[in-house]
Amino acid sequence: MSTTEPGPTAAAPSSILRARRSGPLRGTCRVPGDKSISHRALLFGALCDGPVEVRGLGEGGDNMSTARALEALGVDIRIVGTDARVQGVGLAGLRAAAGALDCGNSGTTMRIMTGLLAGRPFETTLVGDASLTRRPMRRVAEPLRRMGARIEGRAEPARPGEVFPPLRVQGGALRGASHDLPVASAQVKSALVLAGLQAEGRTEIREPSLTRDHTERMLRFLGAPIAVDPGSRTVVVDPTGWGGRLRAAPLTVPGDLSSATFLLVAALTVPGSDVTVENVGLNPTRTGALDVLAAMGASLTVEETGQAMGEPVGRVRARGSRLSGTRVDGRLAVRSIDEVPALAVAAALAEGRTEFADLAELRVKESDRIAALARELARAGVTVLERPDGLVIDGLAGRAPGGGRVIPEHDHRVAMAGAILGLTAEDETSIPADDVATSFPTFADTLRALGAALANG
Ligand code: S3P
Repeated sequence: MSTTEPGPTAAAPSSILRARRSGPLRGTCRVPGDKSISHRALLFGALCDGPVEVRGLGEGGDNMSTARALEALGVDIRIVGTDARVQGVGLAGLRAAAGALDCGNSGTTMRIMTGLLAGRPFETTLVGDASLTRRPMRRVAEPLRRMGARIEGRAEPARPGEVFPPLRVQGGALRGASHDLPVASAQVKSALVLAGLQAEGRTEIREPSLTRDHTERMLRFLGAPIAVDPGSRTVVVDPTGWGGRLRAAPLTVPGDLSSATFLLVAALTVPGSDVTVENVGLNPTRTGALDVLAAMGASLTVEETGQAMGEPVGRVRARGSRLSGTRVDGRLAVRSIDEVPALAVAAALAEGRTEFADLAELRVKESDRIAALARELARAGVTVLERPDGLVIDGLAGRAPGGGRVIPEHDHRVAMAGAILGLTAEDETSIPADDVATSFPTFADTLRALGAALANG
């Protein structure tokens, strides 16, 4: 039997955070392991030909959803704090689960698992929480069906053709295919790579804009038969002659830059602050937020200190800065998609106007983040215009935002954005914080240790 022991920092149920205007934040800190890379370490660890030690695993609920789903498929996983031991069984070692796989709040778990299970010779049902049950799955079901997969989901009369969870995956033989993806999605790309590894013949995946490439980096590190052509944004998978097992190697997960960005924006916007986040992933497909903040005039120092599994790692120092408005669109939007909630706070406190565009994908994240951020900023007295694919934010330019109560809608990043905005607010901000543990269970403790006025209760 497998065991999953919660980390020492697991959040108490029904927690509320109270944020107040803070004095300077100062110090050096770390953030939990990268959520995207942790999912992949667990999933690909399970496909290895022996035990895999994972260091620095993300402690959040999403990563635990992936761990539990793999356990249900017969993989032995032992997690103690941020260390994990995954007993790799190879593709052929996965077994039918006794019941539905609960992916919780995690779109990454559900979408990548769907690609993996499409080629396994058994049936699996994947379910999620209320937020995940509203998220679109056609983007992954449709290209997998073109490879011969049998996937059924829930239909909604208001969204003809779309596929929603629960998903039923009847795994079986797959054939390679050439995909031109309409949506830039690392989850979909990763699902198709895992299907491609199980297919007869060659699979090609071209994406409209280069998304995070952790899957490609880690699978190549583990010896999978995949190649990447960055120029044409194409991943090629050809498993001919491959045995269906990855080589077992220790995996070290860098800190999550998406989590770090909340701390960096807090440091930039609370006057007099000086904060360094160490051991954070600096993969260029993920560092768009650092470029956006630099364009806003942020005092940021980024230093690469090493590599982990082909991923650059380093430290970022942020000092209180006068920020000015900027524009985030195109490739920069893809490279900063998960950081928009934090960047919207920077924009709200900057001088001048910031425009976020080409971000329609934000409407189908854990919440409709465009609507949620527009609502939260307006609540705090910021002038904000909601567009179908983004936001236009007129910064407060030195005026303090108002406080109030954040409505996170089960979205960890909306909750954390509300909290860091509250560190500059005139009045108290209260934040229902249960969902913060999805990606960053140590968020409040870390900010408090830096000096933030962020109380429990
Ligand atoms: C993720 C990919 C991104 C990102 C999500 C994590 C991943 O979503 O927003 O938080 O780990 O592959 P898309 O697949 O929609 O790009």
